[in-house]
Amino acid sequence: MNLDELAKQYGFGGRTFAVTGGAGVLGGEIARALAGCGANVAVIDRDPAPAGSFPAQTGVASDRFLLLEGDVLDKASVERAARQVVDRWGRLDGLVNAAGGNHPDATAGAGKPFFDLPEGALRHVSDLNLLGTVVPCQVCGKIMAQQKEGVILNVSSMNAFRPLTRIPAYSAAKAAVSNFTQWLAVHLAQEYSPAIRVNAIAPGFFLTDQNRFLLTEKETGELTVRGRQILAHTPMGRFGAPEDLVGGSLWLLSPMSAFVTGVVLPIDGGFSAFSGV
Ligand SMILES: NC(=O)c1ccc[n+]([C@@H]2O[C@H](COP(=O)([O-])OP(=O)(O)OC[C@H]3O[C@@H](n4cnc5c(N)ncnc54)[C@H](O)[C@@H]3O)[C@@H](O)[C@H]2O)c1
Repeated sequence: MNLDELAKQYGFGGRTFAVTGGAGVLGGEIARALAGCGANVAVIDRDPAPAGSFPAQTGVASDRFLLLEGDVLDKASVERAARQVVDRWGRLDGLVNAAGGNHPDATAGAGKPFFDLPEGALRHVSDLNLLGTVVPCQVCGKIMAQQKEGVILNVSSMNAFRPLTRIPAYSAAKAAVSNFTQWLAVHLAQEYSPAIRVNAIAPGFFLTDQNRFLLTEKETGELTVRGRQILAHTPMGRFGAPEDLVGGSLWLLSPMSAFVTGVVLPIDGGFSAFSGV
């Protein structure tokens, strides 16, 4: 391989990415990393305001970020946001679907039997993770189909491989995200262009607002039994830090993975490889 070409393949200069949930912990980390590697980055989030600090945090010029309000469950709002991205930068090279998460009301536990989990909460979590991935893929995938080129990165979870206890809707929805990732990879390559790729990452356990109430005690900050069990099943013996997602994500978004589509990459400190014995 030509080594000058190799260096160029990891350069994101002049390329444009949209990151849903880009104002959140994990999406924000990927958004800042893309910008730091030269990309133009549109953050599409229900509440994009926290991303206002990205230029100061990264030293990247503020005109390489576009903060857009959009709800991944409202197709018209995603279309409006995508139009603004194309108006500003002329094209859309990549989409990262990082909006998602669990909700305490859809979590079974003491005093909250699975049988009584409210349908509304189950539907909310299921829709946010699955439809909230499908809708931006429809909107941005259409732009990529016209360009005959593009790359999509979905965010699945360890729950997709084997469900974790207590969070039935989240587990099922993330399994569906992995399945949809494979489906869309095949569909876009066969029907539109083999230069459109779709992959996912499956993060292991990162201590963030969506799972803090499950992994640490509110009063003391000590690990819960569940938190301890997770660490005991993670060969690397720690929770992930958001920056652990960057290498795998940039690889899947870059031409370095040009022949990779339809994969779900675990980034989990070995959790999914460990039988527990
Ligand atoms: N934290 C973990 O340990 C972990 C592990 C595996 C997978 N994940 C997944 O990673 C992704 C990011 O999680 P996070 O930990 O950064 O969560 P987060 O709550 O920090 O970020 C989620 C972001 O999505 C936005 N959002 C929520 N609903 C939205 C909607 N309807 N439309 C647009 N934006 C919306 C929120 O405003 C927020 O900025 C999620 O899909 C989550 O399920 C997280």
